[in-house]
Amino acid sequence: MAEMEHRPLGRTGRTVSVLGLGCASYWAKPRFSEARARAVLAAALEAGITVLDTGASYANGHAEQRLARLLRELGADPNALLIGTKAGSIRNSQGRLVKDFSPRTVTAQVRESLDRLGLERLPLLQLHGPTTADLTDDLLTALERLRTDGLVDLLGINGDPAVIRHATGRAPFDVFMPFVSVMRPDNVPLMQAAADAGQGVLVGEPLGRMAFAPPLAHWLTRPSGMWYLARALRHGPAPLLRARALRPALQAPGWTPAELALAWVLEKPGVSSAVFGTTSPDHVTGLAKAAARPLPDTARTAIARVLKS
Ligand SMILES: NC(=O)c1ccc[n+]([C@@H]2O[C@H](COP(=O)([O-])OP(=O)(O)OC[C@H]3O[C@@H](n4cnc5c(N)ncnc54)[C@H](OP(=O)(O)O)[C@@H]3O)[C@@H](O)[C@H]2O)c1
Repeated sequence: MAEMEHRPLGRTGRTVSVLGLGCASYWAKPRFSEARARAVLAAALEAGITVLDTGASYANGHAEQRLARLLRELGADPNALLIGTKAGSIRNSQGRLVKDFSPRTVTAQVRESLDRLGLERLPLLQLHGPTTADLTDDLLTALERLRTDGLVDLLGINGDPAVIRHATGRAPFDVFMPFVSVMRPDNVPLMQAAADAGQGVLVGEPLGRMAFAPPLAHWLTRPSGMWYLARALRHGPAPLLRARALRPALQAPGWTPAELALAWVLEKPGVSSAVFGTTSPDHVTGLAKAAARPLPDTARTAIARVLKS
């Protein structure tokens, strides 16, 4: 297999693999077999992936615990990896996930994440979907304190365009995770702006959650499929209908639609790493191969035509 490309993570002084693995979603669920989750992670490490993205709220903390356990079992060196987690999503007393970016909650979540991940210092902490109003002076001071206390190295924001635009060029943020894909092309300019400001970009959902995949062939043939389909339908049928128009454009000999969608993201300016989710070791290997190939011109033209229409 070709060697995995590494890119600078903004001006953090770190480089990261151009692909990252999301240790989230179905991968993190206790109902997803530990052996399969391990095979996915092993395939990622084998392919040279160094970015592992998780979150305190993913599968109620199981994601972080599973990641730590499997990294230990696989004998991976955490110092060679950029392990990123997220704070600010918590379960309320009714068991619903809500946002809480108070300094007290974020600080407590960092300590819990460190415990679950078995780390003394988080390589990357991201705020999990804050609004601009959530970025209070008190919160920014608390984040700086986490860093000076040695509990966190890099700080970032995973979220919507408005908050990323607001934080571009502002301390203490080193990294952003916007959602960018053929399904979210409007977010492409955010990445160049962040890169120009010296901030690194880890793209979330680079495959657009595979919304463009034909349901019978994709969603209904895999154990995780119904879960992903139900999640996609939470936003109503409109994105799935829009995604259908992309299907003919995501075709090229020797490529799968997922691989083309990934290559489209990776050639956009400002991307440090694209963090995808999967339950399949073969998909990791296929995407790693695709990451080493340029997007075919025919596909670039066809995708551009659909996105303009
Ligand atoms: N979605 C969010 O709300 C969110 C929020 C914050 C951060 N993130 C980060 O972004 C990461 C990725 O997001 P995501 O998983 O929601 O979306 P995604 O990576 O855009 O898409 C995941 C979907 O792609 C499929 N897939 C992956 N590789 C494939 C391949 N080679 N061929 C065909 N299908 C393939 C997966 O199915 P298989 O399992 O069958 O491969 C899964 O259905 C997350 O893991 C997380 O780290 C996401």
